[in-house]
Amino acid sequence: MKLSREQLEQFDRDGYLFFPSLFTKDEIRVLNDEVPALYAQRRPENVREKTGDVVRTNFAAHMYSYPFAKLARHPRMVEPIRQLFGEDLYMHQFKINGKAAFDGDVWQWHQDYGTWLNDDMMPTERAMNIAIFLDDVNDYNGPLMFIPGSHKRGVIEAKHDLTTTSYPLWTIDNDLISQLVERAGGRGGFDAAGRYVPGGIVSPKGPAGSMILFHGCLVHASGSNLSPWNRVAVYLSLCAVSNHIRRHKRPEYIAHRDFTPIECLPDDCLLKDYPVDLPWKDGVPASALQTSTVPFEEMKQSAAGPSQGATAPSGGSAAAPAANVGAISA
Ligand code: SIN
Ligand code: MN
Repeated sequence: MKLSREQLEQFDRDGYLFFPSLFTKDEIRVLNDEVPALYAQRRPENVREKTGDVVRTNFAAHMYSYPFAKLARHPRMVEPIRQLFGEDLYMHQFKINGKAAFDGDVWQWHQDYGTWLNDDMMPTERAMNIAIFLDDVNDYNGPLMFIPGSHKRGVIEAKHDLTTTSYPLWTIDNDLISQLVERAGGRGGFDAAGRYVPGGIVSPKGPAGSMILFHGCLVHASGSNLSPWNRVAVYLSLCAVSNHIRRHKRPEYIAHRDFTPIECLPDDCLLKDYPVDLPWKDGVPASALQTSTVPFEEMKQSAAGPSQGATAPSGGSAAAPAANVGAISA
């Protein structure tokens, strides 16, 4: 799938692109059939809502679930980003967000690149999300909200919110959000027929199978889901290989450590069998839970110097417990 010149211009202006119904019902069914079994598992990759046992986010299913391993190599998801960056990509993060009926909690206003920079030491913004809806998304089940054009502001000051939801997030101050929304078109209005015309907040909605691509600096959020309908969506955070992260402060199931370029499968891969590796089929390896706040470069230097002490980034004496994670929502 190749982005047209109009789409490239639109992406540059707005910071996102929306592709309604890009995946068929049959393709989405293959993925949806797998989600309940994934959410039922007791593994660290399932992060639950603050209010109870409902899964908010499942991380890294592409490492242990066959349909999602194929999705992670799907050309409709990978190729547009490869085109935008003009470079091979690796999987920085893979998540299935639940936003469950009645229980799905908010995602505060944030930029993903803020977290990738602050926690993972990703050098530049050459990474972004591409998401597909596994459920129909409407006004009521917590659709994503974007401030169009906000990516042009680069990295915006954020604070580490440790209390609002079940996990920490680098969030943006309300005053700044108000200013950004005002500049992007304010509260919008109504046309002659009384229909709402959006201004500085937009919210792409559509059937299951729709896809959204958005810039790493685009400011976004979503409200809680009080409706009786789930809003499950899968997010691939794809990073240019040359822009790989420089430290492992977060466990590997949240911020991946394998910078090998993704090789796409054929376009029919969700409906046909193709061989893929499932390296975490029997559980996440202990090394993937180890973390360190020390950047790779410093580790290498201190390992080479006289006062040994730090070790390779994936584990060893410099590693801290996995519980000491930073923002895990981006
Ligand atoms: C959402 O799924 O509503 C937001 C997820 C995110 O911002 O990472
Ligand atoms: Mn986000």
